Amino acid sequence: MRLALVSIALLLTSACDGDGDPGPTDSGVPTDAPPGTDTGTGVVAGDVPCEVADILADRCNGCHADTPRYGAPMPLTSHAALHAATVSDLSTSVYEMMGRRIHDTSQPMPPTTSTPLSPDEVAALDAYVAAMGPARPAGDSCEAAPDAGVMPPPQVGPEHLPCTPTHTFLAHGPSTDAPFEVPATASNLYQCFTFRSPFAAGAQATAFAPVIDDERVVHHWILYRTETPQTDGAVGPCNMPNDAAFVMGWAPGGTNTVMPADVGLELGGPDDYYLLQIHYWNVAGLTDSTDASGVAICAADTPRENEAGVLWLGSPRIDIPARATDHVVENVCPPLLTNQLLGPLTVMSSFPHMHQLGTKFITEIHPSGDASRAETLVEIERWDFNNQTSYPHVGRTLNPGDAIATRCTYDNPSDTTVSFGERTEDEMCFNFLTVYPLSNFPSAERRACLIF
Ligand code: HEC
Repeated sequence: MRLALVSIALLLTSACDGDGDPGPTDSGVPTDAPPGTDTGTGVVAGDVPCEVADILADRCNGCHADTPRYGAPMPLTSHAALHAATVSDLSTSVYEMMGRRIHDTSQPMPPTTSTPLSPDEVAALDAYVAAMGPARPAGDSCEAAPDAGVMPPPQVGPEHLPCTPTHTFLAHGPSTDAPFEVPATASNLYQCFTFRSPFAAGAQATAFAPVIDDERVVHHWILYRTETPQTDGAVGPCNMPNDAAFVMGWAPGGTNTVMPADVGLELGGPDDYYLLQIHYWNVAGLTDSTDASGVAICAADTPRENEAGVLWLGSPRIDIPARATDHVVENVCPPLLTNQLLGPLTVMSSFPHMHQLGTKFITEIHPSGDASRAETLVEIERWDFNNQTSYPHVGRTLNPGDAIATRCTYDNPSDTTVSFGERTEDEMCFNFLTVYPLSNFPSAERRACLIF
């Protein structure tokens, strides 16, 4: 019985080698980009009715600024900008497209990494769209609007870390000291940068900071670690090896991550490789974009008392019938397995992962295996493939004997069954939990609870 957790993990690993499943490895940490992160700047849009200007300033202009950021194709900062033709559909004006996208359930605006609009905010924007985008009435001044103040910028970036970064993984060109030249055609480009691990065996990370260089085109990034040999310095399309595991990620609104004083995140050894996957969204077709975005890391000289790493949850048993709606794939990690833990685990974050057919995601803990007392760990009601992020947890514990249920919901509009696989058109259902201490696992083998 003691070996069950490990042997199931190994079984899964070998079962998955054939079909390209990312098998479990052992690293990971939170990005602090929770839903609820506001990306507004507080810049009031000129000539726009005050109520609408306030909403745009708080909820949209962080990306849709005068110089748009993070892949947003156009500004939403003035009456003229709202009445311009939309980049994706020149016959539709921006304000009309706004009226559609705030109701779009698969690709909502603001994106799923931001707090959804409140019903009042939706109603105000709907009224503005229905009135065909009126200008601000003459004489109205928005100065007194309560939310019109400029918000302090978040303290993000290496200069705001409490430590001096020891390592960076940054986008680069064919030579590692030149930035990556972002193609004008990179309207939806996942680009991967490969690095041989610079870390000594047993090294731990104590803090991470995003480095965002050309913020006009960087949509989000994810850092993975793999034991599969790669070419150091390679730049190209992302062919994720089957054991690539999430380490860190950033999406707009994301902040620095500083580990608790007694916790370090395992970084693997010198034989590992790191893959920095950057999603570029250059819809505007900019021809002058070069980018050296990525991540700065503080690695500890001496290991900290508690080592953190990743526990894989989910299921590779995925077959979504043609034309299915609300198809659910469920995996329950049972008390039989969690009972092998030598003590409780602190859960620092979740990183849910599905592909494009995913619509909803949930992981819940059943204390002592009691499903009637289910506690939601993370729930995503509107999954958006292009807006994946990490969800930090505070004060969440996994005890020996608990069950952990993960459910992925899919719609398959196509005429063929869609199954598990690593290609974007295949599907996945994983949650990478960053947990500590790793010493409470019964063995040093890969940590996974993926049963089928
Ligand atoms: C976190 C950054 C971010 C925030 C915040 C954001 N957007 Fe966007 N927006 C984008 C990106 C990236 C795109 C391009 C990708 C896409 O269409 O999904 C986009 C596209 C759009 C489009 C479609 C443009 C086209 O050419 O079709 C509209 C309309 C839009 N956003 C409106 C809004 C509104 C309204 C808000 C606020 C309520 C908002 N957005 C908040 C990033 C953001």
